[in-house]
Amino acid sequence: MASKECSNNWKKWAIVSITLVLLVSVIGLVLFFALWKVTQPGCKEDAVCRPDADMLDYLLSLGQINQRDGLLVTWYHAANSQKEMNAALNSDIMVLEADVNVEGLNTANETGVPIMAHPPAIYSDNTLQQWLETVLASSQKGIKLDFKSLKAVRPSLDLLRRLTDDGKVRRPVWINADILRGPNILTSIELNATQFLALVQEKYPEATLSPGWTTLYLPMFPNSTYTRAMVEEMQGLVGALPQRVTFPVRAVMVRAAWPYFSWLLGQSDRYSLTLWQSISETVSVDDLLYFRDNCATHQIYYDLFEPVLGYGEQLLTDMLALCQGLWQPVSFQLQAEPLGQSTDGVVARLLAASPRATVTVEHSTAGGNYTSVQKVLLAARAVDRTRVYYRSQSYRRDLLADIGRN
Ligand SMILES: *[C@@H]1O[C@H](CO)[C@@H](O)[C@H](O)[C@H]1NC(C)=O
Ligand SMILES: *[C@@H]1O[C@H](CO)[C@@H](O)[C@H](O)[C@H]1NC(C)=O
Ligand SMILES: *[C@@H]1O[C@H](CO)[C@@H](O)[C@H](O)[C@H]1NC(C)=O
Ligand SMILES: *[C@@H]1O[C@H](CO)[C@@H](O)[C@H](O)[C@H]1NC(C)=O
Repeated sequence: MASKECSNNWKKWAIVSITLVLLVSVIGLVLFFALWKVTQPGCKEDAVCRPDADMLDYLLSLGQINQRDGLLVTWYHAANSQKEMNAALNSDIMVLEADVNVEGLNTANETGVPIMAHPPAIYSDNTLQQWLETVLASSQKGIKLDFKSLKAVRPSLDLLRRLTDDGKVRRPVWINADILRGPNILTSIELNATQFLALVQEKYPEATLSPGWTTLYLPMFPNSTYTRAMVEEMQGLVGALPQRVTFPVRAVMVRAAWPYFSWLLGQSDRYSLTLWQSISETVSVDDLLYFRDNCATHQIYYDLFEPVLGYGEQLLTDMLALCQGLWQPVSFQLQAEPLGQSTDGVVARLLAASPRATVTVEHSTAGGNYTSVQKVLLAARAVDRTRVYYRSQSYRRDLLADIGRN
């Protein structure tokens, strides 16, 4: 009897203990996942934490912008090498733009592996896989991948597919490529549009498409720009697709072709424009205000350069490389403040690039007053009085200020 009671007691205690252990484990697990979810960096609202989400909705939900206005979005260009990628990740810039190429493209060493490099570079210390894993794990930044070769598209979309199926791509992904021949381009260097669009539909239909035209800007022919036929051809290609589409357009050439782009924007709610700019060009505040007056704020992204700090050797080399072999006049635009902080001889070296080169020194009101700028300007004009110009400009801030006033 006593022993039976004892064994009954023992059973009772065993059940109670096991129940307690289970309960504690369950509570522990629940707490662990709750905390894990809270501490995980990541998007919270399922509707906008998706590769096919609208970029503005996504950034709004993160609190990085406060209204659906493309002007508020900031871009990091060519976040390709590990160094650039890390600099981009450590910045407060909202969207990373990076170039994808194939390792060893068109050489005996071609591997088919997508790497982060801007042509003509065909090697990189960063593969797309490393890039995506790092960017996805350590930031909430939007992603724009720029493809200059069709060969890079398939393996890259396969990679995105895998990561997305694993639940890791909880942010908008833009896929950019020039797929039509645009203004002043005589040879066919665009990607095959049919194949590019088919690959996206097959492999990664979640992407926002960013299909563009190849372009060459000729400053002395300002009216030689996108034609109605070019814009209609693009609409013919993407009009029936299900994706969001943002058309990258060369900012300096947009005003003269505005009727066509205005028409294009009217063709679908899925459409927007992304204004981009080459390093040697400036876009007037006038033009930007004109675009804003003539469409909704969510219909245009402004992927334009901000003034840089000091003109380093790399930038100078890039500027000179850009104008090498060009027969047309080249106009270099330099910001007064960084120019003042640069080594001597920058202006002379740019002017030496070509007898038809000119330098325009710009003054943005953010840095320095006119007195400090004047010193820089006089030094520049001392190099060559006939080929140095001056203008005061700082479009993004001026524009924001203007909008604030109106
Ligand atoms: C291929 O790689 C080898 C070894 O890295 C190199 O020596 C060779 O020049 C490369 N060939 C081409 C065509 O780039
Ligand atoms: C693009 O590729 C398709 C399919 O391979 C081909 O039929 C078409 O001719 C190509 N277009 C151009 C412009 O090369
Ligand atoms: C260029 O276009 C503007 C308007 O877009 C027009 O006023 C001007 O006359 C044009 N110039 C030439 C040379 O066609
Ligand atoms: C303008 O800059 C100069 C030189 O940097 C400085 O001495 C001067 O006080 C500044 N003037 C104003 C009004 O800020």
